[in-house]
Amino acid sequence: GAVALALGLSACASDQGGGIINTVGAVDFSTPLAIPPLAESTIAANGDRVFDLTADESTTEFMPGVDTDTWGYNGSFLGPTLVAKQGENVQVNVTNDLDAVTTVHWHGMHLPAEMDGGPHSVIEPGALWQPEWTIDQPAATLWYHPHPHQESEGQVEKGLAGMFILQDDEEAALNLPRTYGVDDIPVIVQDRRFDSDGQFDIGTRGYIGAIGDEVLVNGTLGPYVDVTTDVVRLRLLNGSTARTYDFGFDDGREFDLIGTDGGLLDAPATMDGIRLSAGERAEVLVRVTPGETVTLRSNPPDLGTSASAAERNAGADTLDVLELRVADTLTSIGDTPTALVDLERLDADDATVDRSFTLNGTSINNRQMELSRIDETVEAGATEIWTVDNAMPLPHNFHVHGVQFQVLRIGTDQPPAELLGWKDTIYLEPGKRYELIMRFNAYTDADFPYMYHCHMLAHEDDGMMGQFVVVEPGERAGTPPTAHQAK
Ligand code: C2O
Ligand code: CU
Repeated sequence: GAVALALGLSACASDQGGGIINTVGAVDFSTPLAIPPLAESTIAANGDRVFDLTADESTTEFMPGVDTDTWGYNGSFLGPTLVAKQGENVQVNVTNDLDAVTTVHWHGMHLPAEMDGGPHSVIEPGALWQPEWTIDQPAATLWYHPHPHQESEGQVEKGLAGMFILQDDEEAALNLPRTYGVDDIPVIVQDRRFDSDGQFDIGTRGYIGAIGDEVLVNGTLGPYVDVTTDVVRLRLLNGSTARTYDFGFDDGREFDLIGTDGGLLDAPATMDGIRLSAGERAEVLVRVTPGETVTLRSNPPDLGTSASAAERNAGADTLDVLELRVADTLTSIGDTPTALVDLERLDADDATVDRSFTLNGTSINNRQMELSRIDETVEAGATEIWTVDNAMPLPHNFHVHGVQFQVLRIGTDQPPAELLGWKDTIYLEPGKRYELIMRFNAYTDADFPYMYHCHMLAHEDDGMMGQFVVVEPGERAGTPPTAHQAK
């Protein structure tokens, strides 16, 4: 329609039937990148840091004069960035002003299952949910989003998502850019398709779900950001419901990967592209020179063995994402560290349990998500190896709640640099097998489960998800709360 024509992308939009979208040169980077506000917090009498989030319906003007129906937290689209420090007690007052039930999941967080915001923690319209927990993990870029049973894709698509930054002393001692929105920039990448009325079109779907032909960053269409320092830290979050990106720059420059889903690496890894599937994060340092313009781009990711399948699932697209406009005079960050944090490597010899998960069709191990069924029972503090098999010639990914894992092997190969840090979500190349090692937390609850699932949200909604409980040694799994029972 008129809207797509104005953006010069209509030719691509009609191409979903298998054509490859290429927006290079077609994106008019003329809108300043929105920076999600930092969430305000108060300190309660008991010392807890308290945040307020309200989910509500509204409209957002992504294109001049066009109101798109959207949902957001404390605003019309996305939500504020929460920041908390290791050791702090955090409480969030979540109010649901939507006409739909929702939940809020703290993706990547170590916390009791009851606070985790999975599908059992339903917040009815008009209700208030007040999870609280202690931040007991290292500095990282986490995020939050809804997780209602069979409704996650639509609610995230509408705009419910936000970043959750964790800080600690080890990270604070490093000479890294950390001025939020200035040299430490949240980059929440979400593809969308607009219909002729300027509304989100989620009816155009591939096997992995809704596929967009345009990219929003922090809710900004055609974004540019002014860079004023010689090194800038980007916190990349693939907040899309389905699409996988391979982020790099238009001139092929190298950047330093400093952090993955669950925290910083032991040392920066230099690379020219990083693949992020839905839900994954990366912190990167980009070096710039005065007066230049450089564009963050998604190149066609290497999706594995099945090129035609990859094309069908929009994996072969090239998308321009965000223009960095570098000032003529730059503040110097100084030398950035060559060593980052002491990253504990989990040892396969410590693993006491092996489990296997095969993703196929819309199920895991031939079972579809069942709210009343506990699929796996894990003992608190146990180190386990989870072998995850993508049995299909099509992409999936795998996310585990309440824990961060490390990758031991992909098939018979060692993991690449981008998969050497703490991860909670991993892309599964078609036909490949991933050995993941993880040590579970100590928050036991025999009844209340955590989730593991494909984070391509249409697959999650379709049942490609299972539930595990963490119990005291020797304890048996109990009975999950009945559906739609909030804490
Ligand atoms: Cu980010 Cu179970 O999800
Ligand atoms: Cu999947």
